[in-house]
Amino acid sequence: MSFSSRVCLKDKKIGVHRRSSATIALGLTLLAGAPAAQAAEQPQAAIASAHPLATAAGHEILKRGGNAFDAAVAVAAALAVVEPYASGLGGGGLWLLHRATDGRQVMVDARETAPGKATPELYLDAAGRPVRGATTQGGLAAAIPGAPAALTHVAGRYGALPLAESLAPAVRLAREGFQVDARYARAAVQRERFLQARADAARVFLDDNHAPRAGWHLRQPALAQTLERLGKDGGRGFYEGPVAAALVDAVNRAGGVWQLSDLSGYRVAERQPLRFQYRGTTVTTAALPSAGGIALAQCLQMLERFETAGTRSPRDAHLVVEALRRVFRDRAAYLGDPDFTDVPVGRLVSRTYAAEQAATIDPATATRGDAPAGTPAPGSVNTTHLSVIDAAGNRVAATLTINLTFGSGVLGGDTGVLLNNEMDDFTVLAGTPNAFRLRGGAANAIAPRKRPLSSMTPTFVEDAKGVLVLGAPGGSRIVSQLLLAVLDYAHAPSVDLAAIVRAPRYHHQWWPDQVEVEPEGFPAQWRAALESKGHRLEISRRQWGNMQAVFKAKAGGIAQAASDPRGGE
Ligand code: DON
Repeated sequence: MSFSSRVCLKDKKIGVHRRSSATIALGLTLLAGAPAAQAAEQPQAAIASAHPLATAAGHEILKRGGNAFDAAVAVAAALAVVEPYASGLGGGGLWLLHRATDGRQVMVDARETAPGKATPELYLDAAGRPVRGATTQGGLAAAIPGAPAALTHVAGRYGALPLAESLAPAVRLAREGFQVDARYARAAVQRERFLQARADAARVFLDDNHAPRAGWHLRQPALAQTLERLGKDGGRGFYEGPVAAALVDAVNRAGGVWQLSDLSGYRVAERQPLRFQYRGTTVTTAALPSAGGIALAQCLQMLERFETAGTRSPRDAHLVVEALRRVFRDRAAYLGDPDFTDVPVGRLVSRTYAAEQAATIDPATATRGDAPAGTPAPGSVNTTHLSVIDAAGNRVAATLTINLTFGSGVLGGDTGVLLNNEMDDFTVLAGTPNAFRLRGGAANAIAPRKRPLSSMTPTFVEDAKGVLVLGAPGGSRIVSQLLLAVLDYAHAPSVDLAAIVRAPRYHHQWWPDQVEVEPEGFPAQWRAALESKGHRLEISRRQWGNMQAVFKAKAGGIAQAASDPRGGE
């Protein structure tokens, strides 16, 4: 079984460094006159993704003259093929871009939207209780995909190559097939019965109706054709014509309420990313409809009020947890699609508000009961991430998802497209938790064409050391992963990228009132110290996340990449 990505080292002009399972740093040819040895040893571009075949697709596109945006399109499309349980054309994502020529930074919001006929009542029974499974399985669970629009938008507006060229590696992987890895096998075992109940999906993703072993050859010719159509016709090849018709038909046969106009009317939105300072670093991160960037800004600005040494001591962990408690409470109260809800973002991410909130943190004791309300702020095998930086300094951090493993389970007829279950990221009923145990309120209620709130947090961090590009899957735990990683980066005098993505994690999200800790990495003494401050600890059965990071040093422009070992075998 192959979970390694090999690139030929023969070309002296290309320096290749194996970092971990799915990352390769690639040095492009240096300018004439530069010493050859330097050319071989100073990688200028790097890609980190959750799968070596996807990373290789990105490098193929860089070698053909593509920039980071083309490479990201190639990686995202390849991930759609090789990690069909995590992301794909039937899903959405948030793409954070930095263009080197003019410094333009933008978030391409390709979040799925609720179909035009979606109402909260569709998901409630006669007694007003949420219908079990309605937002996670079948046609009602699927929101209108944004992923194909993101590919066409990023390639068309920012890329240097035709979309079809950047999609070619993914088309090949879909048509010729590839050997599934142990992660695929695990995802399929986890969802075997779910898939068995859905014949169309089972035919594609199971081996003779059973979860395959690693090494099984997965071919997706129908998906290859849909990708080709997208390359040839652009967005219209997906959102109109036979693909759109097949998707609407499949979703509605599975109990959904899609209309052709939902697809033809889908548009990505370009949004201004959030940008703020933390102890000498500039952080650029996801804007709404992600709650993650706001959480990062709030937490870091609260933590700046304390003498934090980092994230690892029980004292620091206590402060981090208390900050998370407050931001997840605010998330539930205020955050939702900014096109539908008035969110007091300016106030939430202000230093004044951070100071007020920080003042409610007792360095000695966990906050009991509910987190204090601000003076009403006034006003792992699912989802995936890719990070790319090219020789010119263009960057992409993109977190992509179909939500839960294998999404809604609805396969769009003969399109090969597996549809998301992103409707579960809405709040169906105030106070009722979703799959990530997130509670919310009116701001994140279901409404036609609205985007559900997300935790995806693609992020750039810049300081005197260089530029860090990163992100991760993990639902609500994305937020704490990013927070810990940014703190680890900001507090270290030099960069150990592998250590940042590998570091043990803890998480808190206000409700339930517990601190989840990974099973490894937190000794009994550490846990006891936190418990003595009044925190309830829950040791998770498994580790979480699959962080993908690249870093380019200010001095010399050397790029490196690191993949979370949790995503490996
Ligand atoms: O947008 C969100 O927040 C979720 N749909 C992401 C799901 C996710 O990260 C699942 N990963 N474990």
